[in-house]
Amino acid sequence: MEWNVKYQNKMKYQLPKLDYEYDELEPHISKEVLKIHHTKHHQVYVDNSNKILKKLEDARNKNDDLDLKHLLKSLSFNVGGHILHSIFWKTISSNNSEEPKGKLLEKINNDFGSFSRFKEEFSNVANSVEGSGWAALTYCNETDKLILMQIEKHNVNICPGIKILMVLDVWEHAYYLDYKNKRNKFVEAFWKIVNWKKVEKRLND
Ligand SMILES: [Fe+2]
Repeated sequence: MEWNVKYQNKMKYQLPKLDYEYDELEPHISKEVLKIHHTKHHQVYVDNSNKILKKLEDARNKNDDLDLKHLLKSLSFNVGGHILHSIFWKTISSNNSEEPKGKLLEKINNDFGSFSRFKEEFSNVANSVEGSGWAALTYCNETDKLILMQIEKHNVNICPGIKILMVLDVWEHAYYLDYKNKRNKFVEAFWKIVNWKKVEKRLND
């Protein structure tokens, strides 16, 4: 399954070109719907992501204060929308076979029992999304398993397909016995124990 999306310009997000014409998926998806979905809806997520990144960059250059909580929430939503749509466009095409083949089918049979069981579960995931969201089939590298995910909005309940370079646990269990309610002290201490070589290695891997 092709899930990696190639982007043409690394300086900012861009609307990817489709591999098919807008009318090619008819009657399953009409030309009008596909065109609006791609050129209007998806484009908005691309534009918003770039606007927010610019806002962050400008504020950093001027050393201005930022409403980071609000901005990053919005960035996550819009980038999530862009990435999911980019994968969606690759998920659909005009010349399909009815069933997967080869290794994918082997994995589906192995992890779900059968292709029909997989289809049933995936459909249930899609049908039971409350409000706006997505159904997704994902692959967990750690367990070598296929996992279904139900994504709320564009970014809730999903493990992002973005390589994580470093993390800091700020659950109270991570610091309370040492720092009580002074989480800021814990965060300050963290900077003294970051393994930057490992962080760099993850970036280069
Ligand atoms: Fe959409």
